Amino acid sequence: MKIGVFDSGVGGLSVANAIKAALPAHEVEIREDREHVPYGLRQPEEILGFVVPIFEELIDEGCQVIVVACNTVSTTLITELREKFTVPLIAIEPMVKPASEITKSNVIAVCATPTTLASDRYAWLKKTYAEGVRVIEPDTSNWSKMIEDDKTNHDKIKEQIDEVLSESADVIVLACTHYH
Ligand code: DGL
Repeated sequence: MKIGVFDSGVGGLSVANAIKAALPAHEVEIREDREHVPYGLRQPEEILGFVVPIFEELIDEGCQVIVVACNTVSTTLITELREKFTVPLIAIEPMVKPASEITKSNVIAVCATPTTLASDRYAWLKKTYAEGVRVIEPDTSNWSKMIEDDKTNHDKIKEQIDEVLSESADVIVLACTHYH
């Protein structure tokens, strides 16, 4: 089977590599949107216009399933995309549920793009799975661009992570595939 993997940029690579390792008998076709990355500061309507032609292309090339390796797309557009396309769309979303289950301090940190953090799906995940858990959302609005441009400021990221650790967060959710 041919499996399509989509992300706005480099985030899709780690997901595609994991799929290749787990399913070596299947073909993996990866697509990025270098022209419009980062998605994480854009509105869902705009992102929809970018993603639809790319998914159409993957389907035309014979992909029987598409892995949406982008939390920003999954949390904002997956319902519309599933209505539009007949191939199965496998989505990735912020792992609020497992994080809330394993935290001992009852404080977790979710690192995600601003568009993901503003989404209804993310609000639903927190309401459903993180009741009674304090969720810290550090400002990671420039992370995708830094990572995409290979200009990651490790000191600045360490500062932000140290800050959430000092607030007792004992689980950090990397809710953007770029951050892996
Ligand atoms: N890698 C994507 C995600 O998981 C989006 C990064 C971006 O384009 O801002 O959300």
